[in-house]
Amino acid sequence: DWTADAFVETTIESLKKQLGNDKVVLGLSGGVDSSVAAILLHKAIGTNLHCIFVDNGLLRKGEFESVLEQYQHMGLNIKGIDAKERFLSQLAGVKDPEQKRKIIGRVFIEVFDDAAHEVKDVTWLAQGTIYPDVIESVSVKGPSATIKSHHNVGGLPDFMKLKVVEPLNTLFKDEVRRVGKTLGIEGFILGRHPFPGPGLAIRILGDVTAEKVAILQEADAIYINNLKEAGLYDNVWQAGAIFLPVQSVGVMGDERTYENVICLRAVESVDGMTADWCHLPYPVLAKISNEIINKVKGINRVVYDISSKPPATIEWE
Ligand code: XMP
Repeated sequence: DWTADAFVETTIESLKKQLGNDKVVLGLSGGVDSSVAAILLHKAIGTNLHCIFVDNGLLRKGEFESVLEQYQHMGLNIKGIDAKERFLSQLAGVKDPEQKRKIIGRVFIEVFDDAAHEVKDVTWLAQGTIYPDVIESVSVKGPSATIKSHHNVGGLPDFMKLKVVEPLNTLFKDEVRRVGKTLGIEGFILGRHPFPGPGLAIRILGDVTAEKVAILQEADAIYINNLKEAGLYDNVWQAGAIFLPVQSVGVMGDERTYENVICLRAVESVDGMTADWCHLPYPVLAKISNEIINKVKGINRVVYDISSKPPATIEWE
């Protein structure tokens, strides 16, 4: 019978044997998989594990700082890299979703490669790949597709020539969570909703600007905090706000406004392949809507997405 305790014990032993005194680089995303992989490796090889956490400027409000702090608190040897400008400038004026994904994938690879070069004599690349990623290429929109499309354009970045170690590649998501719990990783990280690699860039329909990111971060933070306060966060599989590229008329005092729309999305799902929209209670939706419209400058209307997957997808792009 599979148990998380036994998995942790045998995996740490075999990682020690496999890696010896070698150096390993790993890209942390703030997500469950890369976090669990990092802690396992850290227990096996300590500071020979060099973690890299890239701020692409497309994360949720305050996430880079709070997640980085959490990782440092867990004792990881981690380097945080502020690459906000680099991502935003490359995205300027780009509207097509797949184009945005390609750019973000490419810039991530460039930034990660630069950071990996700074780790002297590194020989391994660790990844948080889990079993479902191995058996199927889950989505054409997934990060592996981005990396593949990169392969086709240029030569391999240097870090991709490293030997690969993937300690979670036999596990399903719920097993990864159980392993994380055994390792003592906090609920703050283990219980978080899935978040796409391209981040808020695919929740801002059309072109991405620093202003739109800031507006969406504010609205999203209000949304997520209210879900947490209402005790609903853990019942929802994934939630997030979306910035719609339309303006609509409103009134504020005696003034006519003409501002953007925020859409709220919340779904129930098992694996993201199919999903149902969540029947969030009206009073909670009302509070979120009021708060967003009152506090977020540039937004005068909030709508709720009542589409399931299929035929809609979870993300709008
Ligand atoms: P869709 O929108 O296809 O999303 O129903 C299914 C799940 O995949 C996530 N998603 C992505 N994750 N890179 C990622 O790492 C991407 O480009 C990407 N696109 C969608 C989405 O958030 C949901 O959990």
